[in-house]
Order: sequence, then C-alpha cells, then structure tokens
Amino acid sequence: MAKVTIIDVSPRDGLQNDPRIVSTEDKVQLVEKLVAAGIGKVEVTSFVHPKKVPQMADANEVMESLPDDLPLEAVALIPNLKGYERAREHRFREVNWVSAATETFNEKNIGMTIGKNLDQFAEVVARAKQDGIDVCFSIAVSFGCPYEGEVAEAKVLELVRQVKEAGADRISIADTIGIATPDHVERLMKKVLLEAGSTPVAIHLHDTRGLGLANAYAAYQAGVRIFETSASGIGGCPFAPGAAGNLATEDLVYLFERMHIDTGIDFTKMLEAADFAASLSTKTPLGRIRHVEKKKEEGK
Ligand code: COA
Ligand code: ZN
Repeated sequence: MAKVTIIDVSPRDGLQNDPRIVSTEDKVQLVEKLVAAGIGKVEVTSFVHPKKVPQMADANEVMESLPDDLPLEAVALIPNLKGYERAREHRFREVNWVSAATETFNEKNIGMTIGKNLDQFAEVVARAKQDGIDVCFSIAVSFGCPYEGEVAEAKVLELVRQVKEAGADRISIADTIGIATPDHVERLMKKVLLEAGSTPVAIHLHDTRGLGLANAYAAYQAGVRIFETSASGIGGCPFAPGAAGNLATEDLVYLFERMHIDTGIDFTKMLEAADFAASLSTKTPLGRIRHVEKKKEEGK
C-alpha cells in the first residue's frame, strides 16, 4: 500500500495569525489530540520575536508542558540563529528554518536577505548535526509572492540546490498565499524532487482559493510523499497580506484514505482534533469534510 506522511502545523501556522492568543494549556491539548489521532510529527511552535508574533511568545512554556512520554517528533519553526539557540533547549526532533523564494518576502518576514539567511542556515546545520536535531529548510512563497508576484522556477530550484548542498535533512516547498494551481505544482515539484535527489521533499499548502486538495493530489502525482497541513484548515502568515488558512489535515486524510493511500491517521480522532483546533480560532476554518461528517452524525 502506498504511504504518505502528514505533518500537522496547526499549533504554529494555525494559531500564529489569529487575533486571539490561545492559552498554553489549549495548545498542549491540541498537540495531544493530534498525536492521539496518529500524527507523528507536529510543528508545535516557533521561536521568533515575541513582539512580532505574540501568539508564539509561550514557545518555552508549551514545550515544557508537553508530557515527556508523548510519542511525538516535535518540530519548531526558527527564523535565525537566536531562534535555534532557544529551540535547542528543548526536545525537538527537527527545526524548520524559514526562508523565502523572494527577497521582499524574506525582508518583510524575517528582516534578512536570502544570502544572509543561507549563511546562517549553514551555521545552524553544523550546530544541529552536533545536537542530533534534523533541519528542514522551508521556502515560502515558492509559487507566487504577495509583493513580487510570479516567482521563477529557477529561483526555487537554485535554493533547493544550495540547501541540499548545505546539508538540509528535508526541504519544504510552501505555497504561502495559496496561489498555486495543480499544473504548476506538478511541474515544479517534479523538478524539485529531481534536484533534491535523496533529500526528502515536502509540500506546504494553503487553501486560500479552494485549490488545496487539487494541489496536494498534483504534488502526490509528481512524487511528493510529505505534506504539511493544519487541523480544520486554520492558519496563515501574518506577513503575507491576504493569506488564508492551510489545507485542512482531515480533508487530506480523507482524500488519501479514500484512495487507499496509507496516512497512519485515525480519521475519526482526526476530526476530534480538527474540531478542537477550530474552537481555538476566531476565523472560519477552511476545512470542508468536518461539516459533512457532522451533518451525517446529525442524520441530515
Ligand atoms: N527570538 C526572540 N527574539 C529574537 C529572535 C528570536 N528568534 N531573533 C532576534 N531576537 C531579538 C534580538 O535579541 C533583539 O532583541 P533586543 O532588541 O532586546 O536586543 C531583537 O530581536 C532584534 O534583533 P535582530 O536580530 O535585529 O532581529 P530583527 O528585529 O531583524 O527580527 C526576527 C528578526 C526574525 C526575529 C523577526 O523578524 C521575527 O520574529 N519575524 C517573525 C517571523 C515569523 O514568525 N513569520 C511567520 C512564520 S513564516
Ligand atoms: Zn504556511
């Protein structure tokens, strides 16, 4: 049976852009529910400037509150060396280094040029190898940028080449503003997979325009087997105008399970996690399947 890995990013991407600041206890509960559903890898938080993203200011507390015996590979988003220094104090399996395909987005998001970002990345990889932590390199706005518009494939592919060489353990290609179409996804991801060779490649999808599932399927067809999504489809980047929620994890689980592709996730428990995630957000979550399942339960 074909298999895919779904990484849920709702505690980070899902909550970082909401006007409501969710309590540490609720964040921990969300992670626990995701793990109970069978999600093995969760992006739990980010170590960024607390004034820039106050929703993630309790990153230390969240990590300290997670039970020691939780069967979880925890991931932290980090934007710079200082983020790495903060993250390494905790039990992370992986840090997710955020970069972008365009200079303007990088500047707005993390206040750095791509060149400086790559220099720091190399340093973090060296340290993380000593610490036994994997490093993922995420390329935001790979399919289109809210500031620069269209993004040349060559830019993304050149970054993939550089970070593979720098020793990235995983590379994630992000459609931060949900602008991609399936043909674009299939074309780019085939090239990314070729360039990345043995380095695992993920796709990070937003469902801004309702194309998330179609894009996920296109990525699957291209050969991608790792997907980053968010329970109930909450989320979005505070530095990307117009960005909306991620593709909903439960919608993707539904798609794959119906296609007899193993996700390792219990759909019913995933719905519970998604309901809880939705309850934490002040926005209308983008996930679709939850509503259908609720109506079925209510006999409508
Ligand atoms: N965590 C906490 N504080 C940090 C930090 C981090 N990772 N990196 C830098 N700082 C602090 C510095 O210690 C310094 O503090 P001080 O003023 O008390 O001395 C201050 O921030 C400025 O440092 P500088 O290196 O100039 O950072 P900056 O102001 O250019 O900000 C980021 C850089 C990356 C920290 C900031 O842009 C940020 O947090 N961006 C958010 C990115 C994000 O979460 N995007 C959404 C997800 S993709
Ligand atoms: Zn995102």
